[in-house]
Amino acid sequence: MTAAPRPTVEFIDVHTAFGDHVVHRGLNFSLFPGEVTTLLGPSGAGKTIILKLIMGLTWARSGTVRIMGHDMASISEQELRDLRVHLGMLFQGAALFDSFTVFENIAYGLRERGENDKAKITRVVKEKLAMVGLSGIEYKFPPQLSGGQKKRVGLARALASSPTIMLYDEPTTGLDPTSTRKIDDLIVKFAKEEGITSLVVTHDIQSARRVSDRWMLLSKGIICADGSSRTLAEQNPLVSDFVSGTWKDEL
Ligand SMILES: Nc1ncnc2c1ncn2[C@@H]1O[C@H](COP(=O)(O)OP(=O)(O)OP(=O)(O)O)[C@@H](O)[C@H]1O
Ligand SMILES: [Mg+2]
Repeated sequence: MTAAPRPTVEFIDVHTAFGDHVVHRGLNFSLFPGEVTTLLGPSGAGKTIILKLIMGLTWARSGTVRIMGHDMASISEQELRDLRVHLGMLFQGAALFDSFTVFENIAYGLRERGENDKAKITRVVKEKLAMVGLSGIEYKFPPQLSGGQKKRVGLARALASSPTIMLYDEPTTGLDPTSTRKIDDLIVKFAKEEGITSLVVTHDIQSARRVSDRWMLLSKGIICADGSSRTLAEQNPLVSDFVSGTWKDEL
């Protein structure tokens, strides 16, 4: 008998608020290695805040956020720095440095993590660019790239650090259908081939269907649906309303 996989991300009764503004009022879920989970929900529901809680960029008011076994409420500065080495995030704008070449952008994260071996850095940069289908653009600058190419460079940069957990915040917003499909395929490929725990925030239902079988719907501060996309879209009225655009944001 094989042991059940341990979750890399655990939220137990997590409450978040900014002043009087309550964002989350009891989040409960776990994420596992190799699994892609799509987080859906109306604008302002608190999806990006969930990613920030995982990254240790913001803190829960109560409840437990446990990342790779670390309780984020009691983690030390040093432990957080060490933990972040295992976390990758693809931001909406890819967040590349425009005055650095593609090579320097990807190498930056490796150097930050103390990697000084030039030959190794060159090998990893080339390998990750090949993985996202962009070999040979090392010496271009981000302004010379299309939106889709920038996203793929952002992905190569995140992957260069061999993350255990990857977080994607609207990774395909503003991309044409072909570029969207490429990003979606890469998200799935990396999760399956490298066993990366992947959480994807998206407003694009087609992408949500393509990247994952597990959907979580966040509304009014709670995960109001969590399960297989097909089952939820067919059987959960909240999810079918959300998918069909007849959502009224009412529970
Ligand atoms: N630092 C902050 N201080 C105060 N309020 C904040 C802060 N960050 C986020 N919020 C509020 O928390 C709520 C959730 O924000 P969040 O960015 O997570 O929404 P979202 O679900 O990602 O929305 P979108 O789909 O538009 O990106 C919003 O009402 C936002 O205004
Ligand atoms: Mg957001």
